Amino acid sequence: MKESIILGVDIGGSGIKGGLIDITTGQMIGERFRLETPQPATPEAMAQTFAAVVAHFEWKGAVGAGFPAIVHNGVAMSASNIHETWIGIQIERLLSEATGCKVHVVNDADAAGIAIMRYGIGKGEKGVVVVLTIGTGIGSAMFVDGQLVPNTEFGHLYMRNKKEVAEKQISGGVRKAQGLSWQSWGKRFNKYLHHLDRLLSPDLVILGGGDSKYFDQYEKYINVDYIVKPATYLNKAGAVSTAFMLGKQNREILPNDSLVEKMA
Ligand code: BGC
Repeated sequence: MKESIILGVDIGGSGIKGGLIDITTGQMIGERFRLETPQPATPEAMAQTFAAVVAHFEWKGAVGAGFPAIVHNGVAMSASNIHETWIGIQIERLLSEATGCKVHVVNDADAAGIAIMRYGIGKGEKGVVVVLTIGTGIGSAMFVDGQLVPNTEFGHLYMRNKKEVAEKQISGGVRKAQGLSWQSWGKRFNKYLHHLDRLLSPDLVILGGGDSKYFDQYEKYINVDYIVKPATYLNKAGAVSTAFMLGKQNREILPNDSLVEKMA
């Protein structure tokens, strides 16, 4: 196998998906492979499923993984859509031991954001750009003149008159569970975008994640003053690998310093 190939794995609240990526082109080689995220999504159960995804590719090289929580120096610092016992776990160590591979982990939304800003619709965008991923949860990545501010959690903002965080009202998971129409969901999402405006005054918000592809269904309910655009199709394994590769090349945008050292 070429040295430029790594296995990118997107660890999500619903599925764990892997793909071999050529990091010189960002292209996936062969098919993506997906397994359901085990429930309850405990560290042990998820590590086993993660190992099964890696084993499917008969892979022994480097693995880059996006993880659906705050990742600080390889350690999980939150657990919203995964089991609470993840908090404090050294994710990189656990997954490396489970697979026998060198595994490097970044927050999933940061990985997607980096790929969108480098290769996607965010390329060359200056000012304050927020990438929101709308899936099982709501992930965020914030860029100031192209520079990532790592581990933002804008899905966890509290909304006015509500006791719960925004994610519990506007994620794709909530839309499906509550059977919301695009109109009901779109209006809720619009309120959230106004709330972001009050706090951050963004120049641009880019929507990623599974529900970004339905943008034409809810675009009409959005009336904020800043620009809101959907990201073009983005393969998550590719995004993770992109974050990985850029981390190697470009220290300053790296969410997790340990990644660079281990990749050097
Ligand atoms: C987590 C974020 C993650 C997002 C998308 C949220 O619940 O707190 O860290 O990026 O879900 O997976």
